[in-house]
Amino acid sequence: MNADELRSKYVEFFVSKGHVQIQGKSLLPENDPTVLFTTAGMHPLVPYLLGEEHPAGKRLVDYQKCIRTGDIDSVGDTSHLTFFEMLGNWSLGDYFKAGAIEMSFEFLTSPQWLGIPMEKLGITVFEGEEGVPRDDESAEVWKKMGIPENRIAYLGREDNWWGPAGTTGPCGPDSEMFYYIGDAPCGPDCKPGCACGKWLEIWNDVFMQYNKDAAGTYIPLARKCVDTGMGIERTVTILNGKASVYDTEIFAPIRGEVEKAAGYVYGSDEEKDKSVRIICDHLRAATFILGDPKAVSPSNVGAGYVLRRLIRRAVRHGRKLGIAKELMLSPIAGVLIQQMQGPYPELLENKARIVEELDREEKKFLETLQKGEHEFEKLLPNLLKDPRKVMPGRLAFKLYDTYGFPIELTEELAAENGMKVNRGEFDEAFKKHQELSRAGSEQVFKGGLQDHGETTTKYHTATHLLHQALRTVLGDHVAQKGSNITSERMRFDFTHPAPVTSEELKKIESIVNEQIMNDLPVSVEIISLDAALNSGAIALFGEKYESQVKVYTIGAADAFFSKEVCGGPHVERTGSLGKFRIQKEQSSSAGVRRIRAVLE
Ligand code: ALA
Repeated sequence: MNADELRSKYVEFFVSKGHVQIQGKSLLPENDPTVLFTTAGMHPLVPYLLGEEHPAGKRLVDYQKCIRTGDIDSVGDTSHLTFFEMLGNWSLGDYFKAGAIEMSFEFLTSPQWLGIPMEKLGITVFEGEEGVPRDDESAEVWKKMGIPENRIAYLGREDNWWGPAGTTGPCGPDSEMFYYIGDAPCGPDCKPGCACGKWLEIWNDVFMQYNKDAAGTYIPLARKCVDTGMGIERTVTILNGKASVYDTEIFAPIRGEVEKAAGYVYGSDEEKDKSVRIICDHLRAATFILGDPKAVSPSNVGAGYVLRRLIRRAVRHGRKLGIAKELMLSPIAGVLIQQMQGPYPELLENKARIVEELDREEKKFLETLQKGEHEFEKLLPNLLKDPRKVMPGRLAFKLYDTYGFPIELTEELAAENGMKVNRGEFDEAFKKHQELSRAGSEQVFKGGLQDHGETTTKYHTATHLLHQALRTVLGDHVAQKGSNITSERMRFDFTHPAPVTSEELKKIESIVNEQIMNDLPVSVEIISLDAALNSGAIALFGEKYESQVKVYTIGAADAFFSKEVCGGPHVERTGSLGKFRIQKEQSSSAGVRRIRAVLE
């Protein structure tokens, strides 16, 4: 079974069970300041898991492009990936444990679908802890399906609890499904989830029962939900009996390109294989980021920094493989775009941009590399004299600061020479020098705005008022490019070719405040996307929408101030927002301005 077949079978199965297929969303989350990338299929659905009504109904299915950078340093081994696709089905207050498990079981075992023999399956469920009982309910359903007792393991929070660890958001116990690749158990205690490496996880059913608030309290959700996730790459690997995801047809086309460019045959040298894998993974992630409607460009902060790091690391490993081509990445990206354009047409639409950005960053990096490596070599004889084999952080920082040589590469060069970099010292120097956050690999899923907090909801409504006020004052060319909300402020990016004058800003500010003073009602309806656009609603440029959408109207139905396609949530009346004040207006990128504002 290949990825295309798995994707369509999954969707087809859940549609046959009354689910509506929804569009996967952008890789760059809207309105969530706490994460850089979409990390799971449930991520764009958080507001609905917390109680908002979804325009497509209560049973949903989709495939979602995801990036997780927490393991970025492990990429290169045979299993880790930064970019992956996740299949998911959701119940928003519809079926719960029994329904979810019965459907999972049928999809996995029925010959019409995956046809996995039952004796290959193992299950884990939550063992319980103070305040949350053992999940016997799920175990019972699995047994009813025919899974024997000894193939069900009860595990703790670390294995069988899903949600934004340590922070806010929807969460609950989960039940994981494993595929057994061994011949015999590794010992008497060998059971699903055992670390012997013979139990491979393929799917996770999460039973969203709680919303963890900022104080750490688990508040039962009024409406219980199901969130499931199946990783496509991993499942294809397992179903085809491959030892590594890099051996599947998913990677075959681009791996072949890398091999061709390097004149190297994969499988002949472990170090070189690692480089091939790093190039394949990183190039996939970079291509999908650049091919996203909300693409960022390589930069030194946030998602742009991760992108830069992915591209640069791929190039560096290309050089390690001896790829001498001037620009190695964009031709391989072309092959990937060709391969993935069916499920992700945005890649083809944005091909020119992908190629241009990859080429530009690669060129820039090659210059940096040459200078940096040359400087490192100059330092090397002295460094090797240190018996502890530690490279001072300040020297690593100097390479970064003077030549733009990334710390990760300094660390790799140091490691190749049997040394370590004093990272603590580097980080200190870095922090002192730059206020800019270099957030990246440390980012984990956190939940953010989507906690429905009162203040963030107010800010969310304020973005709609601002959006319309901008269009009123500056013109209808203004389109929202993104927004970012914390409980302290909002940031709003929009298209406009010139700086907004202070006079214009004053006008915009006072229009927003006028609408707040008018205490306008905020109402929501679910209508077709066409009807929404025909009625004058604005939608986010480049965003994918379902055929049925939620539309928020601020003001009277026949004389509204603002109308936007949006998932919510929003306040009920604008009077609750307080006073709106613009703090700053600046450039965000070419043709895009950014406003920072507060509610006081
Ligand atoms: N959200 C769950 C996961 O990512 C399904 O495993």
